[in-house]
Amino acid sequence: RSSVILGAPIETGASQPGCLMGPASLRTAGLVAALEALGWRIEDRGDVTIAPQRPLDHPNPALRNLAETRAWIEALVPAALEAARACDLPVFIGGDHSISAGTVPGVARHAAELGAPLFVLWLDAHPDLHSLHSTESGNLHGTPVAYFTGQPGFEAFPPLEVPVPPQNMCFMGIRSVDPAERATIATLGLEVHDMRSIDEFGVLVPLRGFLERVAAAGGRLHVSFDVDFLEPQIAPAVGTTVPGGATFREAHLIMETLCDSGLVTSLDLVELNPFLDERGRTAKLLRDLTASLFGRRVLDRMTRSYG
Ligand code: ARG
Ligand code: MN
Ligand code: MN
Ligand code: MN
Repeated sequence: RSSVILGAPIETGASQPGCLMGPASLRTAGLVAALEALGWRIEDRGDVTIAPQRPLDHPNPALRNLAETRAWIEALVPAALEAARACDLPVFIGGDHSISAGTVPGVARHAAELGAPLFVLWLDAHPDLHSLHSTESGNLHGTPVAYFTGQPGFEAFPPLEVPVPPQNMCFMGIRSVDPAERATIATLGLEVHDMRSIDEFGVLVPLRGFLERVAAAGGRLHVSFDVDFLEPQIAPAVGTTVPGGATFREAHLIMETLCDSGLVTSLDLVELNPFLDERGRTAKLLRDLTASLFGRRVLDRMTRSYG
């Protein structure tokens, strides 16, 4: 099996600088070698870049770095589409979560070419469901899901060719939701497993239910992994920590279960801010979680099938 690695060193969508170094930190942690050791053919395509931008005006004066984010989306959609065409499972390494406003529409176009529906698993403390009008922080990493599901309020972003249907979303780990996002979750009836529900049912019950849905639809599956999904004590290198995140064991179990399903067709690793890390421990944890998704196991075992 084959994977293309593509770096997207974006930090303009986050409140504090540092995510620019995310791709470099994951490469230093040995991401490529860890996946090659599992028998994968890896092609590292390096980092996508954008040209310097002139500022863009917008009716919401809080918006930060609108022109840069627009340019990143325009650069990432074709790069993600090409990466998806070229391999079984591209890995997009950020960069803050605004990269997903480019990577998800890119892989959605590839799914449409193949005639398959795209599903998205969003592993995050936040639902990132703001529109350009509703965001109060103005940090555009809080907006990608509303954009790629085709919600209104994105006239200033590039036109979206293939939206992801809201009913194809699944959120896990959510524990910080702004009022406008809460209203959108209710209106769209999104599948959200917040931290309370994970405490009640664990991670496997909701994950298996979602994977059954993906398999039954013959779908492709994009996984978007925000570092702040994890408990901050094990993953300090992120600017938007929220207490009470997923544990080491829950996170590995999710990645192993996703691997066993055979359904995952693309991955984002986002919000790693190496400036905030402790001796590379968050980068090393992300490398190992990715290895679990790519088949690393303690022992050989029988796997469960879906659909
Ligand atoms: N909801 C908050 C905001 O809009 C936090 C967003 C955090 N997003 C993230 N990708 N870490 O500012
Ligand atoms: Mn492909
Ligand atoms: Mn996020
Ligand atoms: Mn987050």
